[in-house]
Parts: sequence; C-alpha cells; structure tokens
Amino acid sequence: MHKQYIKMLVCPSCHKELEWHIQEENEDRIINGKACCLGCNSEYEVKDEIAVFLTNELSRNDLWDQGESALEKFFKENTEIYNKLMNTPEEELNGADYWYKATYFEMKRDFATSSRMFKNAFKKIYTEDYINGWDSQMEFVIKNLQGEEPIIDIATGKGYLVEKILTETKNYVVVTDFSPTILLRNKEYYKAKDLYQRVSLIAFDARKAPFRDNSVVNMTSNMGLQNIEQPGEVVKELNRITKDNFMSVMFFINKDDKKHMDLLEKLSTTAYATKENAIETFTNSGWNIEICNSFLANIKPTPVSEIIEGSGIDGFPIEDTEVEFCVIKARKQESLEPSICKKISSFEEIINLEASKLRVVLAEFSKTDIVKASMGASPQVNQLLRDAFQDIDFNKERTEIGSVRITEVEDIYDKIVALINSRL
Ligand SMILES: C[S@@+](CC[C@H](N)C(=O)[O-])C[C@H]1O[C@@H](n2cnc3c(N)ncnc32)[C@H](O)[C@@H]1O
Repeated sequence: MHKQYIKMLVCPSCHKELEWHIQEENEDRIINGKACCLGCNSEYEVKDEIAVFLTNELSRNDLWDQGESALEKFFKENTEIYNKLMNTPEEELNGADYWYKATYFEMKRDFATSSRMFKNAFKKIYTEDYINGWDSQMEFVIKNLQGEEPIIDIATGKGYLVEKILTETKNYVVVTDFSPTILLRNKEYYKAKDLYQRVSLIAFDARKAPFRDNSVVNMTSNMGLQNIEQPGEVVKELNRITKDNFMSVMFFINKDDKKHMDLLEKLSTTAYATKENAIETFTNSGWNIEICNSFLANIKPTPVSEIIEGSGIDGFPIEDTEVEFCVIKARKQESLEPSICKKISSFEEIINLEASKLRVVLAEFSKTDIVKASMGASPQVNQLLRDAFQDIDFNKERTEIGSVRITEVEDIYDKIVALINSRL
C-alpha cells in the first residue's frame, strides 16, 4: 500500500484514528506492518503490501477464495475431466469450458495464456450487445475522470475497469475488494503487465470502509455495487467517505421484467435492479445522480459446461432479455450541517435550517406541496419558506388552492421530515 493513503485511513469499525507500526517499508510503500485502532483496539494487517481492513461484524461470501481452491481440488480429484479440458482444442470448447481452461492458467499465474483465453471465451459467453454495452460504460468512465487525484475503485474483482484506467490515464488507483484472494491475484497480474507502480491494494468490505469522512475525491465501481450481497446501506457508506464524485457502471433490468426481478430478489436485492430502484436508493442515501450513457443491450443466458457436469457461468439472465447498461454519475448532496446536525422529529424543526439550504433540500417537492406545507405552519416557518422560495407568490397560490385537508398537510410534513433526516 502506498504511504500516501495513511492520512485517509481510519478504523472501519469505529472511525477512530489508527496508530501505525511499520515493520518493513520502501520509499513509497508499506510492505509489512499493522495499524491499531486507538478507539476500539482492533488491529489491521499489511502483509506483502496488501492492507487488510476487514472486520468481524459482517459475514462474507468470498467466491474467489472458494472458486480457486475448489477448482484446483476438483481437477486433482477428476483427472479425466482435467485431461479432456486440456486436450480439447480451444476452438472446440464452448464458452463455459473455455472460461474454466482460462481460469486454470490464471491459477497457475500464466497470465499471457489466461488473458488471451479469457478474451476469446468472453466472446463465446456474452452477446455482442453485452460486450459493447459494458465496454462503452468503461470508456465513458475513463473520459469523465477528472484531475490527478487517486481513484478508489470499489469491489474491483478482476479489475477490468482498473486495467483500463491504468493503461489510459496517469492516475494512481486503489484496488479494493473484500476478497484478499483476488487482491493477491491482482498484485501478481498487474506486476506481470507492468502496471503495478500506481496500484495499491486494500481489502475491505464496501459496507464498512476504512476511509475517513469526505476523504475520497474520485471513486469508481464497475458492476461492483450490484454484486454486493445484503448491500444494506452501502451507498450511504460510500457517500460518507466521498468528497465529490462517484461513477458506477451499472446494468438494469426493466421494471416490468417480473421473472428476473424475482430472481434478483432471491439472489440478493432489488435495490439496484431497475433504474427506478437505483435512483431511489442513491437519492435516499445522500446522492444527486445522473444516469449517463444509456445503452440498451439484448442479452442471453450464459452457456453451461459440456465437460464439467452441472457447472455454468452466470445465473443471470435465465432467458433472453433486454437490459440497460449505463453509468450512474453521483455527487454528494449538499450537506445540511452545521445548521441541523441531528435528526428532526417534526416539520416545525426546519426553522433551524438556513433558507438557501432548505431550498436545495425541498427542490424535489412541487410548488403546490410547499405552499400547502406553509398553510399549517407557524408564522416563523412561513417566513422561512417565503425567504427560501422568493419566486413563489404564496398568497396567490393559497387562493388558488383553497382549503386543504389537515391529513394531506401532515402527509407532506412526514415526507419533508423523512427527506431531511435521510440527508443528515
Ligand atoms: C463482478 S465483480 C465486479 C467487476 C469488477 N469491478 C471489474 O471491473 O472487473 C464483483 C466483486 O465484488 C466483490 N464484492 C462482493 N461483495 C463485496 C463487499 N461487500 N465489499 C467489497 N467487495 C465485494 C466480489 O468479491 C467481486 O470481486
């Protein structure tokens, strides 16, 4: 891990400061050492340049760990299958088997062979639309990266996006994942490709990040968010650490695609399954977002192996369908602090907000709702609303609205209170 990140790191559990004990280092990097939390005494290790900030609080389903060791064991125990896979000419292998053969060479760290095979296998597994749709999003992210600040990539996995960033920009990149196994593979892979110089590797769970509040200027994720099981409030956590920009490559199913919606619900969550759900999840977690570079793609179920019985590539989709690839460009919503820094329990408490901030927060409410809210409010809150919305003629609007049921006004209050609390 490059030493420049020390100042951004805190304990992922309690967010208190860390005391660093460096055992081995070079000019730029910590090679071996540990960081001890001064708040809760948790210890985090840096081993062979990989920092591990995993906590015991969240369970992890590390598929990389299970995958590599399971495949190796399987081949050892099933030499006939192994021989068939190795002796079948590449052009005769179907997509799934080609992928397994490539995985074998990757396990052996023969990256030249595995990279070539993965590239070919990809074309046999995914539709042209899928490949073009995904590629187009990665290109979009690269074009829209700003400045020279390091990029923190969330749930990097094998790092297709990171590889492009390293090749096409001069930025430093922090490669992250909750799997130390994939980070070790990435270290060796980037070294083999001569791309390691600008890479740091930090293992952590995106739901409990080891970065301090507002410390990350550039954050990316490439199909990472949608692969997080039990994501909970992950985008809220990412909002906590970000100072500015987050670009996340996504693909959405159509909201009327019930079959896939049910499947995703069973597998993990639907919080990011459709564009509508993702907009709601991000907005409620403190982000302003734009959906960019939409690309509609026809996709098909991925092949199952002809050699290794019962195994396949992806569980999604289960039938031909259309998905929308895009990039979510997210920026932190303007913070309400310091005028309000704790949750409010009634609408009248908005009196503690500055007019300019209230205007930003209530931007998504209609003019009519704002005027209706004013109709049940105290004179002080009325004045605040008038200061915040000087473009609204409250008297004229009230006359046009006439009388309003108190339950309707209370409903608007509840929505406003919930929105303000979600932004704190
Ligand atoms: C499909 S990969 C993402 C693709 C990748 N970003 C790329 O550019 O190639 C999803 C990754 O998310 C990681 N992951 C899943 N849940 C996570 C979590 N809670 N925190 C961090 N990483 C997580 C998995 O280990 C996996 O490597």
